[in-house]
Amino acid sequence: FPIRVMYELGIKTLFVSNASGGMNPEFKIGDLMIITDHINFFPEHPLRGKNFPTGPRFPDMHETYDHALINQANEIAKEKGIRVVHGVYVGVQGPTFETPAEYKMYHRLGGDAVGMSTVPEVIVAHHCGIRTFGISIITDLGLEDNPVEVSHEEVQVAANNAQPLMTEIMREMIRRA
Ligand code: HPA
Repeated sequence: FPIRVMYELGIKTLFVSNASGGMNPEFKIGDLMIITDHINFFPEHPLRGKNFPTGPRFPDMHETYDHALINQANEIAKEKGIRVVHGVYVGVQGPTFETPAEYKMYHRLGGDAVGMSTVPEVIVAHHCGIRTFGISIITDLGLEDNPVEVSHEEVQVAANNAQPLMTEIMREMIRRA
């Protein structure tokens, strides 16, 4: 609903951000992962029901995360010396964090990070023809065969620490738009 309201208000580009558990062994806590694609594991699909006239009944999803915006973010991060990683975001409902077996499964299915948000909003934005760019802050790690407990407090601390760097990239992208 908020995305459709923003569409009606005329937005052309959407920036999304979230916190996630990293499953890619190259990732570290506090990394900024530029989202290149997603895997939708939410049990409900936001486009179910009568089709909204903002887009087709069966939307193509090949470039859900705008390549030009990703390239621009890469350039800005390089210029500013900010470490970024790239990856596929797996969207799940939660509210449980994953079991070690689930982290392993999502990684083997092609995910680099897993979190409990963003995917439904991005699907609706894409259906509205809104260009989307997203950054996921890696707040904990769910690496195969290395189970580490995670708490909401740890997630909040890691997200708060990394957030200024993410904002710096997004602010510069807006400045250059
Ligand atoms: N799993 C799911 N959602 C999350 C995680 C996680 O490990 N970290 C932050 N949000």
